[in-house]
Amino acid sequence: MQIRKIKPYHKKALIELSRSNFGDESWTDEQLGNAIINDDYICIALLDGDNVLSYLIAVQTVDDVNILSIATSKDNQNKGYATMLIKWMINLCQNVDKTLSLEVKSKNKTAINLYTTLGFKKIHERPRYYKDGDSALIMFYNFTDK
Ligand SMILES: CC(C)(COP(=O)(O)OP(=O)(O)OC[C@H]1O[C@@H](n2cnc3c(N)ncnc32)[C@H](O)[C@@H]1OP(=O)(O)O)[C@@H](O)C(=O)NCCC(=O)NCCS
Repeated sequence: MQIRKIKPYHKKALIELSRSNFGDESWTDEQLGNAIINDDYICIALLDGDNVLSYLIAVQTVDDVNILSIATSKDNQNKGYATMLIKWMINLCQNVDKTLSLEVKSKNKTAINLYTTLGFKKIHERPRYYKDGDSALIMFYNFTDK
Protein backbone atom coordinates (compact mmCIF):
# COMPACT_ATOMS: atom_id res chain seq x y z
CA MET A 1 0.00 0.00 0.00
CA GLN A 2 1.17 3.49 -0.74
CA ILE A 3 -0.06 7.07 -0.62
CA ARG A 4 0.09 8.67 -4.06
CA LYS A 5 -1.22 11.68 -5.93
CA ILE A 6 -4.44 10.73 -7.73
CA LYS A 7 -3.95 10.50 -11.51
CA PRO A 8 -6.57 10.85 -14.27
CA TYR A 9 -6.58 7.05 -14.73
CA HIS A 10 -7.89 6.69 -11.16
CA LYS A 11 -10.93 8.80 -12.01
CA LYS A 12 -13.34 5.87 -12.51
CA ALA A 13 -12.37 4.29 -9.18
CA LEU A 14 -12.62 7.66 -7.45
CA ILE A 15 -16.13 8.25 -8.82
CA GLU A 16 -17.26 4.79 -7.67
CA LEU A 17 -15.81 5.27 -4.20
CA SER A 18 -17.36 8.71 -3.84
CA ARG A 19 -20.79 7.54 -5.07
CA SER A 20 -20.86 4.49 -2.84
CA ASN A 21 -20.11 6.61 0.22
CA PHE A 22 -21.96 9.86 -0.48
CA GLY A 23 -24.83 8.72 -2.73
CA ASP A 24 -26.83 11.74 -3.92
CA GLU A 25 -24.41 14.07 -2.14
CA SER A 26 -21.42 12.80 -4.09
CA TRP A 27 -19.40 15.24 -6.15
CA THR A 28 -20.28 14.93 -9.84
CA ASP A 29 -17.95 13.09 -12.24
CA GLU A 30 -16.98 16.47 -13.67
CA GLN A 31 -16.12 17.96 -10.27
CA LEU A 32 -13.97 14.95 -9.39
CA GLY A 33 -12.27 14.99 -12.79
CA ASN A 34 -11.52 18.70 -12.48
CA ALA A 35 -10.09 18.34 -8.99
CA ILE A 36 -7.60 15.71 -10.23
CA ILE A 37 -6.12 18.01 -12.87
CA ASN A 38 -6.35 21.38 -11.08
CA ASP A 39 -3.20 22.40 -9.20
CA ASP A 40 -5.21 24.28 -6.57
CA TYR A 41 -6.38 20.88 -5.34
CA ILE A 42 -4.39 18.25 -3.51
CA CYS A 43 -5.82 14.84 -4.37
CA ILE A 44 -4.20 11.86 -2.70
CA ALA A 45 -5.17 8.23 -2.36
CA LEU A 46 -4.10 5.17 -0.46
CA LEU A 47 -3.52 2.65 -3.22
CA ASP A 48 -3.17 -1.10 -3.27
CA GLY A 49 -1.77 -1.49 -6.76
CA ASP A 50 -4.21 0.58 -8.81
CA ASN A 51 -7.05 -0.10 -6.36
CA VAL A 52 -8.16 3.07 -4.51
CA LEU A 53 -8.76 2.12 -0.85
CA SER A 54 -9.23 5.65 0.46
CA TYR A 55 -8.96 9.16 -0.95
CA LEU A 56 -8.65 12.71 0.30
CA ILE A 57 -9.31 15.87 -1.73
CA ALA A 58 -8.27 19.26 -0.38
CA VAL A 59 -8.07 22.74 -1.81
CA GLN A 60 -5.18 25.02 -0.96
CA THR A 61 -5.07 28.77 -0.58
CA VAL A 62 -2.14 30.98 0.38
CA ASP A 63 -2.27 30.06 4.06
CA ASP A 64 -4.71 27.16 4.45
CA VAL A 65 -5.38 23.66 3.19
CA ASN A 66 -9.07 22.78 3.39
CA ILE A 67 -10.12 19.12 3.28
CA LEU A 68 -13.17 18.97 1.00
CA SER A 69 -13.81 15.28 0.71
CA ILE A 70 -12.49 12.10 2.27
CA ALA A 71 -13.78 8.56 1.99
CA THR A 72 -12.67 4.98 2.43
CA SER A 73 -14.23 2.11 0.48
CA LYS A 74 -16.83 0.36 2.61
CA ASP A 75 -14.90 -2.93 2.77
CA ASN A 76 -11.85 -1.14 4.09
CA GLN A 77 -13.21 1.17 6.77
CA ASN A 78 -11.91 1.14 10.36
CA LYS A 79 -8.46 -0.05 9.30
CA GLY A 80 -6.76 3.30 9.85
CA TYR A 81 -6.65 4.27 6.15
CA ALA A 82 -8.29 7.71 6.42
CA THR A 83 -6.05 8.36 9.43
CA MET A 84 -3.00 7.69 7.24
CA LEU A 85 -4.17 10.20 4.61
CA ILE A 86 -5.01 12.90 7.16
CA LYS A 87 -1.65 12.43 8.90
CA TRP A 88 0.05 12.79 5.52
CA MET A 89 -1.83 16.07 5.05
CA ILE A 90 -0.97 17.28 8.58
CA ASN A 91 2.68 16.65 7.80
CA LEU A 92 2.46 18.55 4.50
CA CYS A 93 0.82 21.54 6.21
CA GLN A 94 3.52 21.54 8.87
CA ASN A 95 6.20 21.60 6.18
CA VAL A 96 4.64 24.43 4.18
CA ASP A 97 3.40 26.34 7.25
CA LYS A 98 -0.31 26.34 6.38
CA THR A 99 -3.33 25.74 8.58
CA LEU A 100 -5.46 22.64 7.98
CA SER A 101 -9.23 22.97 8.07
CA LEU A 102 -12.37 21.05 7.16
CA GLU A 103 -16.13 21.16 7.33
CA VAL A 104 -18.22 18.24 8.52
CA LYS A 105 -21.91 17.53 9.06
CA SER A 106 -22.78 17.58 12.75
CA LYS A 107 -24.53 14.20 12.36
CA ASN A 108 -21.42 12.51 10.93
CA LYS A 109 -20.25 11.16 14.28
CA THR A 110 -17.73 8.71 12.79
CA ALA A 111 -15.94 11.46 10.91
CA ILE A 112 -16.09 13.95 13.82
CA ASN A 113 -14.70 11.32 16.19
CA LEU A 114 -11.86 10.61 13.80
CA TYR A 115 -10.99 14.28 13.31
CA THR A 116 -11.13 14.97 17.07
CA THR A 117 -8.93 11.96 17.83
CA LEU A 118 -6.39 13.26 15.32
CA GLY A 119 -6.29 16.72 16.92
CA PHE A 120 -8.88 18.84 15.11
CA LYS A 121 -10.91 21.31 17.15
CA LYS A 122 -14.33 22.76 16.33
CA ILE A 123 -14.03 26.52 15.92
CA HIS A 124 -17.38 27.40 14.39
CA GLU A 125 -20.83 25.99 13.64
CA ARG A 126 -23.11 26.98 10.75
CA PRO A 127 -26.65 26.05 11.80
CA ARG A 128 -28.88 24.33 9.19
CA TYR A 129 -26.14 24.74 6.59
CA TYR A 130 -27.00 21.62 4.58
CA LYS A 131 -30.08 20.94 2.44
CA ASP A 132 -31.23 18.26 4.89
CA GLY A 133 -31.19 20.80 7.75
CA ASP A 134 -28.02 19.51 9.36
CA SER A 135 -25.45 21.97 10.70
CA ALA A 136 -21.88 22.32 9.47
CA LEU A 137 -19.00 22.17 11.93
CA ILE A 138 -15.84 24.02 10.92
CA MET A 139 -12.77 22.36 12.39
CA PHE A 140 -9.09 23.29 12.37
CA TYR A 141 -6.16 21.08 13.17
CA ASN A 142 -4.52 22.27 16.35
CA PHE A 143 -0.79 22.51 15.56
CA THR A 144 0.05 24.49 18.68
CA ASP A 145 -0.66 21.68 21.23
CA LYS A 146 1.53 19.18 19.37
C1 LIG B 1 -15.10 8.90 7.81
C2 LIG B 1 -14.29 7.89 7.02
C3 LIG B 1 -13.57 8.59 5.87
C4 LIG B 1 -13.25 7.25 7.94
O1 LIG B 1 -12.44 6.37 7.14
P1 LIG B 1 -11.67 5.12 7.76
O2 LIG B 1 -10.61 4.73 6.81
O3 LIG B 1 -12.64 4.10 8.18
O4 LIG B 1 -11.02 5.82 9.04
P2 LIG B 1 -9.97 5.15 10.05
O5 LIG B 1 -9.98 3.67 9.91
O6 LIG B 1 -8.69 5.86 9.92
O7 LIG B 1 -10.62 5.59 11.42
C5 LIG B 1 -11.96 5.20 11.72
C6 LIG B 1 -12.02 4.58 13.08
O8 LIG B 1 -11.36 3.34 13.04
C7 LIG B 1 -10.43 3.27 14.12
N1 LIG B 1 -9.31 2.47 13.66
C8 LIG B 1 -8.20 2.88 13.05
N2 LIG B 1 -7.38 1.85 12.80
C9 LIG B 1 -8.02 0.76 13.21
C10 LIG B 1 -7.71 -0.61 13.22
N3 LIG B 1 -6.55 -1.07 12.73
N4 LIG B 1 -8.63 -1.46 13.72
C11 LIG B 1 -9.81 -1.01 14.21
N5 LIG B 1 -10.15 0.29 14.26
C12 LIG B 1 -9.27 1.15 13.77
C13 LIG B 1 -10.03 4.69 14.34
O9 LIG B 1 -9.54 4.89 15.66
C14 LIG B 1 -11.32 5.40 14.13
O10 LIG B 1 -12.09 5.28 15.31
P3 LIG B 1 -12.85 6.54 15.88
O11 LIG B 1 -14.02 6.75 14.95
O12 LIG B 1 -13.21 6.07 17.23
O13 LIG B 1 -11.88 7.70 15.85
C15 LIG B 1 -15.19 6.72 6.49
O14 LIG B 1 -16.02 6.29 7.54
C16 LIG B 1 -16.04 7.10 5.30
O15 LIG B 1 -15.62 6.97 4.15
N6 LIG B 1 -17.27 7.57 5.59
C17 LIG B 1 -18.20 8.00 4.53
C18 LIG B 1 -17.76 9.30 3.90
C19 LIG B 1 -17.66 10.41 4.93
O16 LIG B 1 -18.51 10.58 5.79
N7 LIG B 1 -16.55 11.21 4.84
C20 LIG B 1 -16.30 12.31 5.80
C21 LIG B 1 -17.02 13.55 5.50
S1 LIG B 1 -16.36 14.41 4.10
